[in-house]
Amino acid sequence: MAMIAYKCPDIKVVVVDISVNRISAWNSDHLPIFEPGLDDIVKSCRNKNLFFSNEVESHVSDAEIVFVSVNTPTKTRGLGAGKAADLTYWESAARMIADVSKSDKIVVEKSTVPVKTAEAIEKILTHNSKGINFQILSNPEFLAEGTAMEDLANPDRVLIGGRETPEGQKAVAALKAVYAKWVPENQIITMNLWSAELSKLAANAFLAQRISSMNAMSALCEATGADVNEVGFAVGKDSRIGAKFLNASVGFGGSCFQKDILNLVYICECNGISEVANYWRQVVQINDYQKSRFVNRVVSSMFNTVSGKKIVVLGFAFKKDTGDTRETPAIDVCHGLLRDKAHLAIYDPQVTEDQIRRDLATSKFDWDHPQHLVPAGVTEKTNLSVIKDPYEAAKGAHGVCILTEWNEFKSLDYQRIYDAMEKPAFIFDGRNVVNVQAMRKIGFIVYSIGKPL
Ligand code: UGA
Repeated sequence: MAMIAYKCPDIKVVVVDISVNRISAWNSDHLPIFEPGLDDIVKSCRNKNLFFSNEVESHVSDAEIVFVSVNTPTKTRGLGAGKAADLTYWESAARMIADVSKSDKIVVEKSTVPVKTAEAIEKILTHNSKGINFQILSNPEFLAEGTAMEDLANPDRVLIGGRETPEGQKAVAALKAVYAKWVPENQIITMNLWSAELSKLAANAFLAQRISSMNAMSALCEATGADVNEVGFAVGKDSRIGAKFLNASVGFGGSCFQKDILNLVYICECNGISEVANYWRQVVQINDYQKSRFVNRVVSSMFNTVSGKKIVVLGFAFKKDTGDTRETPAIDVCHGLLRDKAHLAIYDPQVTEDQIRRDLATSKFDWDHPQHLVPAGVTEKTNLSVIKDPYEAAKGAHGVCILTEWNEFKSLDYQRIYDAMEKPAFIFDGRNVVNVQAMRKIGFIVYSIGKPL
């Protein structure tokens, strides 16, 4: 919304939320999320044509276009638990829009939703509409965290789905005109509602599948002595495959990939196509396998026990340049190590201690992933510390696990880290950020994903 306000000074954008704290943070000097470049854009438009407000109903009532960007988490109980999207927030937003509207509106699905959600929303809106005309559009977002501002300013494509009726097409044209202020028209793709909804799930499933494919290869590389970076480079040189997004890692994280794939799996199951459901489920299973494989490697390398040993965790965010920890592989890896009674010293340049402790104290999808059960004592101070200095964290440690690819981890003084550690000193690089030869020269025992041991 900040980017729309920035690129379209003639459009008034009001971001509304029921959370008073969140809106005051957006109106303060300290925005509630860390995203490179966002501060400047918000500060240049705020209180000119970009506003943040708790007066949800009056602003929705005034608007011509309403973007709904509410949370659509995975259902934790009831039918479809662990897979289906929970549309509670979407439904209540739609009911509120219907209640407060006095004029025709375009309602845009921005949150990623299961296919055919628009149909349900349309029913809620039209059955409560008092004669008002609502047009539902699907306009999924493709930005990635850490590069959000660049992705929004220069998107590969903007996708708009709408009804194939004259009113539907008019609504599509109105939204297209907003993006056309800065996105070349041939990159604004229009299609039917269901295709747009499914395209979003499909895009994330394809992206995650690339990572799981590389991660599957990384296990084979370790077993055979091949190097996953070299394999990825060679594979990516094929222009049909392309070089991007082929980095093997400790596993993908983030709020979207797993959620969207499980959602896709559930939709396939509901439609009776279990072969397709199983195909996509495997992308998530390989991801879980990769995380537990990493933990097993740490424990087995350190003579089959990490009990009482201090292990430094470098990086907790799900990727670099974000403070976001949703579904970060670090949660599962830390749980695994804590379960084996390791003492963790965690350092991340952006994630707060509160957040780390909260993340490690909550369990998720216990029924689907028994290995995710929270180990006893995780919230106690004794086996977990969050340290603001990686060198301090290294004192007396037996091992270092790199779990996020922060640039600063490439240029740490590893000799200093090595000197502060117990011997033998281990490095487990879950993001392939360090130079294996250089680390071995210092004296470390090194394990890097998909590299010869
Ligand atoms: C992802 C998609 O990339 C966006 O296009 C999409 O809009 C977004 O989800 C969404 O649906 O909201 P995001 O989760 O922010 O974006 O971040 P990614 O860059 O996709 O990274 C996801 C995870 O995959 C991270 O943990 C990252 O470290 C990991 N990853 C990425 C790898 O392990 N290897 C790679 O080669 C690339």
